[in-house]
Amino acid sequence: MSAARRRFTQLKRLADRSAFVAHLEDLGISLPLADEGAEGVVLGDPWRLGDRAVANRWAVLPMEGWDGDPDGRPTDLVRRRWRRFGRSSAGVIWGGEAVAVRPDGRANPRQLGFAPGGMGLRVDDLAALRAEVLAGRREVGLGPQGMLLGLQLTHSGRWARPEGRPAPRTAWSHPVLDARAGATPEVVLSDAELDDLIGAYAAAAVAARDAGFDFVDVKACHGYLVHELLGARDRPGPYGGDLAGRARFLLRVVAAVRAAAADLAVGVRLSAFDVVPHCPGPDGTGVPEVDGPWPYAFGGDGTGTGIDLTEVHELCRLLVASGVRLLCVTAGSPYTCPHVQRPAAFPPSDGYRPPRDPLCEVARLVEVTGALARAHPQLVVVASGLSYLQEWLPAVAAGIVATGTAMLAGYGRGVLAYPELPGDVLAGRPCDPRRLCRTFSDCTSAPRNGMVSGCYPLDPFYRARPEWARLAQAKRDRRAGREGGS
Ligand SMILES: Cc1cc2nc3c(=O)[nH]c(=O)nc-3n(C[C@H](O)[C@H](O)[C@H](O)COP(=O)(O)O)c2cc1C
Ligand code: SF4
Repeated sequence: MSAARRRFTQLKRLADRSAFVAHLEDLGISLPLADEGAEGVVLGDPWRLGDRAVANRWAVLPMEGWDGDPDGRPTDLVRRRWRRFGRSSAGVIWGGEAVAVRPDGRANPRQLGFAPGGMGLRVDDLAALRAEVLAGRREVGLGPQGMLLGLQLTHSGRWARPEGRPAPRTAWSHPVLDARAGATPEVVLSDAELDDLIGAYAAAAVAARDAGFDFVDVKACHGYLVHELLGARDRPGPYGGDLAGRARFLLRVVAAVRAAAADLAVGVRLSAFDVVPHCPGPDGTGVPEVDGPWPYAFGGDGTGTGIDLTEVHELCRLLVASGVRLLCVTAGSPYTCPHVQRPAAFPPSDGYRPPRDPLCEVARLVEVTGALARAHPQLVVVASGLSYLQEWLPAVAAGIVATGTAMLAGYGRGVLAYPELPGDVLAGRPCDPRRLCRTFSDCTSAPRNGMVSGCYPLDPFYRARPEWARLAQAKRDRRAGREGGS
C-alpha cells in the first residue's frame, strides 16, 4: 500500500453521505451537495446560449490523447475518444482536446494541430470528429440537438515539443522554469511574432466554424503560452507589465476570432490561480521548489501558495467586454503543480504525492469557481477537477449547479474511464462503481513515458494494448528509483 493511500481517506470507503459530510468537516472544508435523489433533475436542467438550447448541465472537459498522427491529424484512437465524448450525453463538449494553432505550438509530436498550407489538421478532419460525437450520442439514443461542441485552441509556448525534444517559445524569461524547459532568453517570442500568431488562432477558428463547431476555447491555462503571458509582469512592451498588457494578446486573439467567425461563440479555459512549482520532497511528497516570495503566479497572492483573485476578476470583466461567453475554470499547470488542477490519490510517474488531502484541492478549485461565477453572471462558468470525487461526483456536481457555484459541472478524467456516467445520472440510473475513475493517473503516466494516453486500468480497450505491460514496467522502474521512459 502506498503512503498516499495510507495517509488519505479513500472516498470509496466512506459508507454513506453522512460519513462524507463528516469527512469534509474533519478536513475543515465544504463542498455543495445536492439533495439526495435530486442529482438527475438538477443536472438535467436545460439552459440557453443565445438562440441555442442546451439539454443539461454537464460539460466534458478537454482530454488529449497524445495519439494524433505526425501531421497533427486524427487517428482511430482520437476518433474513438471523441465518439465516447458523445456517449456521455453531456450538453457541452468543451474543446475536445488541445489543438495547436501552428506546428511550433504542438506540445508533442502526436498532438492535433494546424499547419500552413493545409498540411496539418483540416476542416474535414474536424467535421469527422464532430460526426463521431454525434454518432456517440446516437449510440445512447440522443440526436444532435441540445449540445454545444467546442474546439480548444492552443500554443504550447514553454512546453512546446513538436518533434519530441523541448523546443520552448516562451512569453518571458522565467527565473525557475527556463532551466526546466531548456529555455534561454533567445526563445522569448517577440512582439512581432505574437502579432503574427494571432492570425493562426483566427484561421483555426474559421476551420472549426466551417466544420460545424459551435465555439472555440482560447486556452489560457496550464502553463501554456497564453497563461504564461498573463503572468508576464517582467516582460517589457505591449504584451507584458500591467494586466492590460498581459491580457492584450488574449484579448486580441478573441477579437480576431470574433472578426473572422462572427457566428462562433468564444470561450476561455483559464487557470484562475497558480502556485509555486512543486517537486518531490525527501519522502516523495510534493514541496515548493522555491522558498520565499513568489510574485509570478497569475491569481496568486505573492506567497507562492495563496490566492488573490483581484486581477482574475478584472480579467473576467475584460473578457465579458470583449464578447467571451464561456469560462472554464481550472488552475496552475500539470508541469509544475499537478496537485492543484487534477487532484489525484495516485500521482503520475513523474509527479509527487499530494502535499495535502486531494479533497482540499477539489474544494479550493470549487470555491474559486464559485467566486468567479457569482461575480460574473454574464459568463457561463464551468467547474473542473471533480473526478477525484468518485462516488460523490454526482451529488457535488449537482450541488455546484444548484447553488450557482457554476453553471456547468465539468467531467475530465472520468470520461476516459466511464463516459456514460453523466447520462446515467441524468436518467436516474445508479452509477457503476467498477467504472469510476479512481485517479490512478495512468492516463498521464502513459504519455509521460512515451505512450498514448487512455484509461489503462479501467477501459478494457486500453488494457488489451501492449502499452499496458510497458506502463506497468515503467511504474515499477520508477518505484525502484530508476527513471522509466522519456
Ligand atoms: C490525460 C489528460 C489529458 C488532458 N488533456 C487536456 C487538454 O487537452 N486540454 C486541457 O485544457 N486540459 C486537459 N486535461 C485536464 C482536464 O481537462 C481536467 O482539467 C483535469 O483532468 C481535471 O478534471 P477532472 O478531475 O474531471 O479530471 C487533461 C488531463 C488529463 C489527465
Ligand atoms: S487512468 Fe483511468 S482511472 Fe486513472 S486517472 Fe486516468 S481515467 Fe482515471
